[in-house]
Amino acid sequence: KKKMILDVDTGVDDAQAIMIALSSPHVEILGITCCHGNTPLENVLKNTLRVLKVCGRLDIPVYKGFSKPLLSNKRNAGDYHGKDGLGDVPDPDAPGVELLQKKKAAQAMIKIAKAHPEEVILVATGPLTNLAVAVQLDPSFPNKLKALYIMGGNTNSRGNTTVCGEFNFVADPESAYIVLDRYTCPTYIASWEFSCRSSLPWSFCDEWLSRKSEKAAFMKKITALSMTKAKSADYQKEVIAGGGFNPCDVFALAAAVDDDFIVEKEEVAVTVELNGTNTRGMMVLDYMELLKKEHKVFIMKTVDLEKLKKMLINAIK
Ligand code: BDR
Repeated sequence: KKKMILDVDTGVDDAQAIMIALSSPHVEILGITCCHGNTPLENVLKNTLRVLKVCGRLDIPVYKGFSKPLLSNKRNAGDYHGKDGLGDVPDPDAPGVELLQKKKAAQAMIKIAKAHPEEVILVATGPLTNLAVAVQLDPSFPNKLKALYIMGGNTNSRGNTTVCGEFNFVADPESAYIVLDRYTCPTYIASWEFSCRSSLPWSFCDEWLSRKSEKAAFMKKITALSMTKAKSADYQKEVIAGGGFNPCDVFALAAAVDDDFIVEKEEVAVTVELNGTNTRGMMVLDYMELLKKEHKVFIMKTVDLEKLKKMLINAIK
């Protein structure tokens, strides 16, 4: 089985990613670490536990991470994910935060990776604060990982949060910079533009969400608000090619689960702009190798959407 740590800011598409990981027979989740992001950290923790409860997997350890970025002001994405981060459909019987582990997220990641050297795949679907702190605490941590999969950044200076910035990187630019600089393990990036180009047709989504099961009902409920938002003309303008539903975080997770999910990728050194007036938090691709960085990342270009559909269907069975 593939051993994974999921670093999340649960969020609707984080929830979808977690549910895919849980439903995959080839994945063992060693821990879920939580970070500020789509919604304040307290909600992220509750949302993560809610997802685990629906899937009957409250045995998976959940760790509390950072509640704010290293230097920037806090940012959330309540417009899309709902004020509570999970579509504003509260569960009165949601599990309590007393179920959380005592150890903090960054320390937990380090400990888990140490126990399974070069076996653990880290999938990060929120701002990268926990990862940035982990490498400061233990510079050898990235070398102990088998691979890192990130949803974040952009490739054509097309933003979804600022003019040029994608949410996860803009929400903590310094952390994104540190991670892209210091994590020298094999690194795969699902960027904002890539995810937009890989959107799923609405006809698939409607059929997917009409399935009958407890998990499907939960998925339908938490996804309703973001689906409505995503179907709006304004949002579809942002989504570039073809329209459809863009479950950003799911792409990073799916690539980690199935080695054949990525069809085309490109290898390039990247960094993050920290100073620009309009470009702070933007990912920068160094095609001319002017930065002389030894480590290059894999930027996802095209993926097998049929595999993705199967994973989404499996996740709510
Ligand atoms: C990213 O930002 C969040 O709103 C999503 O969960 C995803 O991680 C897309 O920019």
